[in-house]
Amino acid sequence: MLNIALVAGSSRRNSQSAKVAGFLRQRLIELGLTSTELSSVLDLGERPLPLWPADDNGPWNEYQQQLQAADAVVIIAPEWNGMAGPAIKNFFLYAGKAELAHKPGLLVGVSSGIGGAYPISELRASGYKNCRLCYLPEHLIVRHVEKVLNGSDVTSDDDQRLRNRIDFALDIFAKYGEALKPVRAAIDIDQPAFATGM
Ligand SMILES: Cc1cc2nc3c(=O)[nH]c(=O)nc-3n(C[C@H](O)[C@H](O)[C@H](O)COP(=O)(O)O)c2cc1C
Repeated sequence: MLNIALVAGSSRRNSQSAKVAGFLRQRLIELGLTSTELSSVLDLGERPLPLWPADDNGPWNEYQQQLQAADAVVIIAPEWNGMAGPAIKNFFLYAGKAELAHKPGLLVGVSSGIGGAYPISELRASGYKNCRLCYLPEHLIVRHVEKVLNGSDVTSDDDQRLRNRIDFALDIFAKYGEALKPVRAAIDIDQPAFATGM
């Protein structure tokens, strides 16, 4: 069983990204891949991180402990103006190697329409260099988010197809989670000459 942290990357309270995080966490538990005790949602809308740098880092110390304990991380990124939103970008100024290095990261794009690919593309290009989070080749895009993943009742063919896709991706995600444990243990992340990525 894995310790899994899910980062709900919207700066809005009651966001759809947080709904998706809750759904994925529940599904990970139902599939026996984690447990209530071993999983956590870091909701950047409910408990925001101040814009970095800040005198008071808000909930960061608690988030840091949850991330350090995690074997694998889900990054849920809403698409805002064709970009990854500011809360998740700010998150990556706080989170570094100590929290994320060589852990599998499942990217999840969220859109109220047919978007959701831009934040995936943006984070694949920019979100991992120094923290060395390992994004899986598999990712998820939740389109028309208000209409899907609303509790246990399936409401449409699209909703069902997405749920099937989620189970497929979570299974792969958990396999990477187990596989990267010994890889992480074998890598020294504290080599000062190569502290940041190229
Ligand atoms: C400022 C802003 C800009 C947005 N721009 C886009 C966009 O470019 N493409 C898109 O598909 N959805 C866009 N949306 C809609 C979001 O996809 C939608 O709010 C979705 O629920 C994810 O955001 P949330 O997690 O904050 O709820 C935008 C929403 C906001 C608040």
